[in-house]
Amino acid sequence: MARITISFLARLLLAAPAAVTAINVAILNPDSVRRAAALVAEDLLSFYNGTAAGETPGILPYSEYFWWTGGIMWNTLLDYRARTGDVKYDDLISQGLLFQRGPNDDYLPLNFSAQIGNDDQAFWALAALEAEEIGFRDPPASEAQWLTMAKNVFESQSSTDRRAGGNCENGLRWQILPSNAGYNYINAASNVAYFNLGARLARLTGNETYLREAEDTYDLLVKLGLVTEDFDVYDGVNTPSCDRVNEARFSYNAGLLLQGVAALYNETREEVWRERVDGLTTRILEVFFKDGVLSEAACEPTLCTVDMSFLKGITHRALAATAELAPHTAVRIRSALRTSAKAAAVQCTGGDNNRMCGLYWLDSTWDNTVGAGNEASVLSALVSVLTRTAPVVPELPNNGTSGNETATDGDNTPLSAGTVAWAGTSVSLAAGALLLVGLLL
Ligand SMILES: *[C@@H]1O[C@H](CO)[C@@H](O)[C@H](O)[C@H]1NC(C)=O
Ligand SMILES: *[C@@H]1O[C@H](CO)[C@@H](O)[C@H](O)[C@H]1NC(C)=O
Ligand SMILES: *[C@@H]1O[C@H](CO)[C@@H](O)[C@H](O)[C@H]1NC(C)=O
Ligand SMILES: *[C@@H]1O[C@H](CO)[C@@H](O)[C@H](O)[C@H]1NC(C)=O
Ligand SMILES: *[C@@H]1O[C@H](CO)[C@@H](O)[C@H](O)[C@H]1NC(C)=O
Ligand SMILES: *[C@@H]1O[C@H](CO)[C@@H](O)[C@H](O)[C@H]1NC(C)=O
Repeated sequence: MARITISFLARLLLAAPAAVTAINVAILNPDSVRRAAALVAEDLLSFYNGTAAGETPGILPYSEYFWWTGGIMWNTLLDYRARTGDVKYDDLISQGLLFQRGPNDDYLPLNFSAQIGNDDQAFWALAALEAEEIGFRDPPASEAQWLTMAKNVFESQSSTDRRAGGNCENGLRWQILPSNAGYNYINAASNVAYFNLGARLARLTGNETYLREAEDTYDLLVKLGLVTEDFDVYDGVNTPSCDRVNEARFSYNAGLLLQGVAALYNETREEVWRERVDGLTTRILEVFFKDGVLSEAACEPTLCTVDMSFLKGITHRALAATAELAPHTAVRIRSALRTSAKAAAVQCTGGDNNRMCGLYWLDSTWDNTVGAGNEASVLSALVSVLTRTAPVVPELPNNGTSGNETATDGDNTPLSAGTVAWAGTSVSLAAGALLLVGLLL
């Protein structure tokens, strides 16, 4: 009783004219960004119940979240760790990534394998790959290692039984099982995630096979009309004709493509990849950033599913990686990331703790939605403005928090992104497309 009264009073006091921004952040100050990110990380994990008795480690509650979002959450927290040095969640991350690896170490755990699509599987592999890239602590020696799991997923998706022949250019199908709706859809997400995985594996291992597969996948995306001359990235095509393109545009498809392209440019130094880096960067900033703020215009403000609430975080992370892999893009990209991250944080004033984040960043007020996707996206946006502090391992002095980043701040001018007219209808999106779950809890 007393607590309720106090909290009610506190709310009245806080409602005073000076608006309360619960996630305060000075975007050019790395310490301030780290402090804000730590709060959002905590709020993200408030949705995770995997360590409770009788619950399943690794995934967000299955009543509301599809399996793939667990992979996104761990990837987000790995990136948070790499950019802040906060090692507090290492045990959780490690446990989650290992628990869902499946009997063949390829992210097809039996409980979920009937519903796992190629994109879902790839998103877990991308998290494992990031663990490898940032020098996250290895699994126990008796287990498969991060790199092995990422390679296993890539290899399984290279096989022809995951692909469609004929006019479909050997495209990777959305679904793995013929009985699943979506088996006849070649979606950008699956092919782009596969491309991203291959490009980063090529860079990490120098193995030509990955390089060739990644090159072929880029060509196939162009042939299918999923990547245009203007660097639009469209959602997918249907088998067997594969001739009618669903032109819905989601930011993560373009973002993950760009990150892979940047990895290949970094690895090969070839002009063709540099041109693609530049073209995609320009187009992403035009299409998805409104007044400098990332917006999932195909579904915002009211049509986004739970799955879609995770996308802006994926895109922020991909852009931050691109600025590092192709440093000539850094000034342009980081300027946009900063404007966007600031807007993302400002609206986090919701929920019982007055700091939960909404989905919609173009308004400075909270949009009355809460969810793990909202938190993951804002967390990725915040840490995307920090520089990655090379591989951090707990054995370092100060547990890896000694890398004092300075705000790389060549250019503060907000980008004025072109206004783009949208008629977006989402058809596919990870496993979630067929089941629309409201964002409001
Ligand atoms: C978390 O798990 C516990 C134990 O199974 C359960 O009682 C509780 O309802 C769960 N909470 C959520 C948010 O799923
Ligand atoms: C599979 O489901 C069982 C029963 O709910 C559970 O005990 C187990 O932890 C789950 N395994 C995975 C990998 O999700
Ligand atoms: C390169 O990768 C491919 C595909 O994973 C593998 O079959 C091959 O053995 C690797 N080559 C080398 C030299 O490691
Ligand atoms: C390749 O990427 C690394 C960061 O991972 C960066 O330091 C380096 O400058 C890039 N190389 C080139 C040639 O752009
Ligand atoms: C590093 O972290 C470990 C475990 O969290 C802790 O025991 C140790 O004191 C920390 N070391 C430093 C130098 O902060
Ligand atoms: C580095 O960061 C620590 C902790 O925020 C701070 O105490 C220290 O003064 C910083 N050092 C430099 C050189 O900025």
